[in-house]
Amino acid sequence: MLKIENIEKSFGQLKAVNGVSLEIEKDDIFGLIGPNGSGKSTLFNIISGFYRKDKGEIYFDGERIDDLLPNQIVERGLCRTFQVSRAPERMTVLENMLLAAKNQVGENPLNALLKRPMVERSRKKNLKKAKELLSELDLFHLKDEYSGNLSGGQKKLLALGRIFMLEPKMVLLDEPTAGVNPTLTNNILKGMQNLREKTENSFFIVEHDMGVISDVCRKVFVLNSGEILAEGSPEEIQQNDKVLDAYLGRN
Ligand SMILES: Nc1ncnc2c1ncn2[C@@H]1O[C@H](COP(=O)(O)OP(=O)(O)OP(=O)(O)O)[C@@H](O)[C@H]1O
Ligand SMILES: [Mg+2]
Repeated sequence: MLKIENIEKSFGQLKAVNGVSLEIEKDDIFGLIGPNGSGKSTLFNIISGFYRKDKGEIYFDGERIDDLLPNQIVERGLCRTFQVSRAPERMTVLENMLLAAKNQVGENPLNALLKRPMVERSRKKNLKKAKELLSELDLFHLKDEYSGNLSGGQKKLLALGRIFMLEPKMVLLDEPTAGVNPTLTNNILKGMQNLREKTENSFFIVEHDMGVISDVCRKVFVLNSGEILAEGSPEEIQQNDKVLDAYLGRN
């Protein structure tokens, strides 16, 4: 589904990503871990088109994507969340979900005029989908609340919901549970698993919490100084000597 070949990215003298190759299959949850500054977010920014790679190739769903713009990558079904919420704060949760929807026929004024029945159908479909997703994510009771009034964790859930309005094939999540209490962390994980089971898409998540990684990921990649240090099941990773030395700080 996602194939990364020999990606390199430098910032001045610093090689933030130094020859990373990896492959992510369909229909599963994959993890990316590594010390602070090891290049995880940089790699996600490159995959999603926000940074240009210096070298290497990226393929998604059989198509080369490393020269595409972020919105073109989203159109192909590869979406990401951001560390900081980008949902408009003075709109309700439900409005935010609808705003994120794909194929908003009514957006074009001419369409809105000429294709009224079609606009109405797509509006109904999006409304139904938005409500279903909010239920899955345990946000339905907040649908009429301004999204600015949500807690940090609820904003993260809303970000997930907004992405799922786009019917993604793969979602990149950068630290989805950072700064979130254990109950909400569980909600986020449960929400993620619910959504995944229904839609058969894949998740690729950056996460510092090994408990979270062990709970949800089938396979984990470990980055260290911009290079893949190890890959394997969460159990294998936790027993890997190189990983224990580099990441978990064992002497
Ligand atoms: N836009 C940028 N300009 C200059 N340097 C950058 C930029 N983005 C990242 N870096 C540097 O690249 C390195 C990798 O950063 P990155 O954010 O990818 O790390 P990370 O693995 O996500 O770390 P963390 O776990 O702390 O989020 C760091 O040394 C960082 O300072
Ligand atoms: Mg980061």
